[in-house]
Amino acid sequence: MPHIKPKATPIFQTSVFTFDDLNELELYFEQPGQRYMYSRYANPNSDELANEVNELEGGIGAVVTSSGMSAILTAILAICKAGDHVLCAEEIYGGSAALLNQELSRIGIEVTYVPSEATYTFDALVQPNTQLFLAETMSNPLLLVFDIRKLAEQTKQHGIKLVIDNTFATPVLTNPLSLGADIVIHSVTKYLSGHSDVTAGVVVCQADEDLQRVQKVMLTYGLNLSPFESWLAARGLKTLRLRMKQHCLNALAIAEYLENHQKVEQVWYPGLTNHAQHRLAFEQGNGYFGGMLSFRIKDDAEAVNRFMQGLEQIPFAPSLAGVSTSISYPLGTSHRSLSKEQQQKIGITVGVIRLSVGIEETEELLTDLERGLSKV
Ligand SMILES: Cc1ncc(COP(=O)(O)O)c(C=O)c1O
Repeated sequence: MPHIKPKATPIFQTSVFTFDDLNELELYFEQPGQRYMYSRYANPNSDELANEVNELEGGIGAVVTSSGMSAILTAILAICKAGDHVLCAEEIYGGSAALLNQELSRIGIEVTYVPSEATYTFDALVQPNTQLFLAETMSNPLLLVFDIRKLAEQTKQHGIKLVIDNTFATPVLTNPLSLGADIVIHSVTKYLSGHSDVTAGVVVCQADEDLQRVQKVMLTYGLNLSPFESWLAARGLKTLRLRMKQHCLNALAIAEYLENHQKVEQVWYPGLTNHAQHRLAFEQGNGYFGGMLSFRIKDDAEAVNRFMQGLEQIPFAPSLAGVSTSISYPLGTSHRSLSKEQQQKIGITVGVIRLSVGIEETEELLTDLERGLSKV
């Protein structure tokens, strides 16, 4: 074999690694992390991605998983067993709520939702078997910003772990571990990979005991990420900082445009000075406010359809955080599984549209939004 020194990491598209003899096998067990045996346990591409995200988040170690959902599952199963109890912010991604309500409840892990008004005063909801609190740095889709430092003070007092889904903020804006969170998870599918071509997740830990458990759950349940998807995500991650700056710049310009539009009844974006947590968002977000925003037009499904049909450039795609802008409809997609009462309470009504702002030229996006709104 010639001496090869590639600049880019090759893809180790293999399910298993070979050993010369028993001595090499023993070295594998003696030097964890130095050698590889089986890709479900570890693979150089997955390790590269995990190490890069870990560095960005300032953790002691990270584990990548097959999706954001499996990252949340891994974090919860690493800490909880049957008979335990989880506290979860009421404003949470619908898939996380479905995991807790429909699946983890079946294996004896119970959940209580913490209403947003009780976020920092949830003492009465803590039970002797409560193990963790799950929340998002910025909630989906209405961009409520959680004060992680304040939340961490409370969870520490009660001796429970704080698990933060940092998908919307990314480590460019916020490092939850530095604010006191115990575990950070991401849907890598979103900003971290950034090009709408990967489904992946990551769990970043602050304590060695949590990392050991997270690794064990990932490999025992088989929640690993494939070498190719790890490679694609690691490739996307290289431009995260640059992309986030343009996402944030465009989102602020669009939020200001929508706020002054007569067809728009409400805009949710932490960068607007009238957002209830604008100051907190500024401080916790490193001066940035993210690339996601939501707005409400008339609460009429036909008006929403006309808006969507009027857009020429921006597609309706029920995901987020890609380089090109897309819209989504929380009531019909991410929050569909919630009860009518939950949807109403959170404020997700018929006219609410979520915008994932991409990195195009700002003017292009404003022109297309005007085309859509003119049809409402
Ligand atoms: C905030 C948040 N967390 C987790 C997930 C789940 O991630 P995935 O779709 O990669 O499983 C999503 C998906 O939209 C999300 O928006």
